[in-house]
Amino acid sequence: MRFRDLGNTCVFGLQWGDEGKGKVVDLLLEDYDAVVRYSGGANAGHTIVVDGEKFALHQLPSGILRPNITCVIAGGSVLDPAVLLGEIAALRERGVAVGARNLRISQRAHLVFPYHRREDALSESAARIGERIGTTARGIGPCYADKYARHWAVRVCDLFPEARFRERLAAIVAHKNTYLATVYGRAELFDAERLASEYLAFAEALRPFVCDTTYLLNEMVRDGKRVLFEGAQGCLLDVDHGTYPFVTSSSAGVGGVVSGSGVPISAVQSAVGVVKAYATRVGAGPFPTELNDEVGAAIRERGGEYGTTTGRPRRCGWFDAVAASYAAMFTGPTFLALLHLDTLAGVDKLRVCTAYRLGGAHLAQFPCDVQVLEQVEPVYETLPGWSEDIGGCRRLADLPESARRYVRLIGERLGVPVRMIGVGPARDQVIIVEDGHSA
Ligand code: GDP
Ligand code: IMO
Ligand code: MG
Repeated sequence: MRFRDLGNTCVFGLQWGDEGKGKVVDLLLEDYDAVVRYSGGANAGHTIVVDGEKFALHQLPSGILRPNITCVIAGGSVLDPAVLLGEIAALRERGVAVGARNLRISQRAHLVFPYHRREDALSESAARIGERIGTTARGIGPCYADKYARHWAVRVCDLFPEARFRERLAAIVAHKNTYLATVYGRAELFDAERLASEYLAFAEALRPFVCDTTYLLNEMVRDGKRVLFEGAQGCLLDVDHGTYPFVTSSSAGVGGVVSGSGVPISAVQSAVGVVKAYATRVGAGPFPTELNDEVGAAIRERGGEYGTTTGRPRRCGWFDAVAASYAAMFTGPTFLALLHLDTLAGVDKLRVCTAYRLGGAHLAQFPCDVQVLEQVEPVYETLPGWSEDIGGCRRLADLPESARRYVRLIGERLGVPVRMIGVGPARDQVIIVEDGHSA
């Protein structure tokens, strides 16, 4: 067991998502019994490459490809049953076993309905340019808004019994139709009966998987089973600590682990911070180190930086150690997994943003106000690049000295040791830095 010392752990992205969490979770699961998605929903897109075959997971935890891992979708997640069931069917077609033995879904998870997706799209198009978030249009924000407003929310447990669900959905749909028509004008009307029948069919398909995952997880922890909590989105998209309002609507960070899973803080012993060797962002919002030039375009092409969920080209830029240090501060990683180091091969001079300046003055903290963040000037440290393909490197010593220097700088700037280095998308394209060694 390479990661026994981690105990129960959580895996967080320390940037704006798509850091490579899926790959890191898949690797760590060699040493775990269960994996929990505790927040977010089908806006996530986690990619795993096994034996040259690529799997993109949106609702399902990244443990579904490993036999003997219990995958849990906990109550802090929002569940789009159409997406989930589609994902299960597609995996089964590819020979992956998905059943009640390896997938458990919380009764407490909130359900995403088509009117959430519609409202997501309508509110984005109604927003003024500059205020559009660039959401994934998966209905995430409206579903979480209903959760916190309470009156119009539907949890998985509310699908049963049928008569009660039909009655409740009829009232909700009447309200949603009035709301969408009043606020957005020509909005399409939803048919309550049809929607109820559709969701009752989903309910039957979901029934074998549904249980009280709060009890399940606490029993697993009590019995000494090893549990990994899989972050979705990046911590700079966290609704409380991210670049608000250009964030998602859930708690991607530490708070989400305990509130979303229903385990005590004492159940979690460590955290793994995942960073990409450069920065990306998909959707709107400030991005101080963004590269709107041929270097950014080259990184996008080499790294395949197109959204896993929406296919949108990702914005690419230099590694921002100020932003990632801020995320590390509030998530407390035990070590870093630094992915996509291979993608930087061939970039002549590499830059890492190590400070921000504003109006000529040094800025001591990552700003809370996005308008301030839009104006900061990144201060860069420049390092020599390397031209070798490092996809075949499996030991730290195999890396060119300039690549090791780059890794060392990131670890130093974040004040966290780098223990995993990604050198390609495949499962085995990774360097595990043994304890006591550093780049
Ligand atoms: P997640 O949302 O954090 O799980 O990340 P995504 O799956 O959205 O995006 C990461 C992409 O990078 C996926 O296509 C992965 O297969 C790929 N990937 C992960 N690690 C590496 C790496 O070290 N090198 C390269 N070249 N690709 C990687
Ligand atoms: P994974 O788990 C990257 C971004 C969207 C948008 C903002 C709000 O794959 O890292 P939402 O649909 O959540 O209301 O959109 O958040 N976003 C992500 N960006 N990776 C993700 O997930 C994301 N999930 C949401 O692009 O800017
Ligand atoms: Mg992703």
